[in-house]
Amino acid sequence: MAREQFGICAEPNLHGTYLLFNVLDDKTPYIREALSRLPALFEMYADRFSEANLIGVVAIGANYWDEFHPDTRPKLLESFPAMECEDRIAPSNNIDLYIEIRSDRQDTNHIVSTKVCDLLSSSVELIEQVQSFRFLDGRDLTGFVDGTENPKGQQRRKVALVTDELDKEFSGGSYLHIQRYKHNLTLWNTIEQKKQEDVFGRSKIDNIEYSNEEKPLTAHTKRANIKDKQGNSIEILRQSMPYGNMKVQGLFFVSYCNTPESFEVLLDSMIFGDDQGNFDHMLKYTQAETGAAFFAPSLNFLAALSNKSNAAEIDGLGIEEITLDF
Ligand code: HEM
Repeated sequence: MAREQFGICAEPNLHGTYLLFNVLDDKTPYIREALSRLPALFEMYADRFSEANLIGVVAIGANYWDEFHPDTRPKLLESFPAMECEDRIAPSNNIDLYIEIRSDRQDTNHIVSTKVCDLLSSSVELIEQVQSFRFLDGRDLTGFVDGTENPKGQQRRKVALVTDELDKEFSGGSYLHIQRYKHNLTLWNTIEQKKQEDVFGRSKIDNIEYSNEEKPLTAHTKRANIKDKQGNSIEILRQSMPYGNMKVQGLFFVSYCNTPESFEVLLDSMIFGDDQGNFDHMLKYTQAETGAAFFAPSLNFLAALSNKSNAAEIDGLGIEEITLDF
């Protein structure tokens, strides 16, 4: 299997920066060359600030893929599955490039983000930047620990990475979905703790899962715990982090998987609910404001983007000024 980008399966960090870009007309050849160099840039800073556990991920938007790489496309890559039911919405946005920079030092993230933007700036529009942070012992801003039931150890790779059998050409890659959720913490904080715990199906302080009998059908962990036809849990690898300031707070939801279908099935179960209309009551207190789908290709794929024909195409665009010598 090809080598995956290290950030996909990495353990959580203290700080994150998410950069979302659209590519300007006619700049794709430059972007191919630039993206091929980003893993080396991440590696260089990971080495320089070795205690910061820096990781980076580069991903290509589903709707931009064909322009970016017209010859071949990951088998299952599709636009973000927008959904709407009553006041529960999952909007979809067109974003060409996703860059995730995480580490345990905010200054390191800042330096690396600046370098990424320097590299890309003449060819992209920065659509959105989200700064995220670890909150207490890995909690969402609702106060509940997020990530407890995430796959662990080798299972992280199994869940997140495309294998040779699934799609040989894109092995080592991963299907990525993001959503920026905005919480209504004023409303959330008016409800008593037991009701909050019912919303998640777990206890708040000590993070114990409710028993099956206790767990409401509307609990988030009920709606997001779905079995496939063989009776196996449908898993995704979540790398979400809280974000916010004194005006707006929420969760930057990030999920990696070896198929985009898992995310779609879980989101459908949250928004539309079961046959009896039991939807996810967490959605009464938070709302997705954005959503986008990407593919994060392997390191081998990114390296192969740099080639002579690209270099010829980008003559005159200033690619020769991109160096790693900072
Ligand atoms: C504001 C948005 C969200 C918040 C605050 C949130 C928070 C949480 C929390 C606190 C847990 C329990 C602990 C854990 O196992 O991680 C959890 C579990 C989970 N969440 Fe979310 N989540 C959000 C959105 C989503 C979305 C959009 C999906 C998938 C489409 C999702 C999928 C899951 C899964 C698969 C679990 C594990 C369920 C289990 O097996 O118990 N979450 N989430």
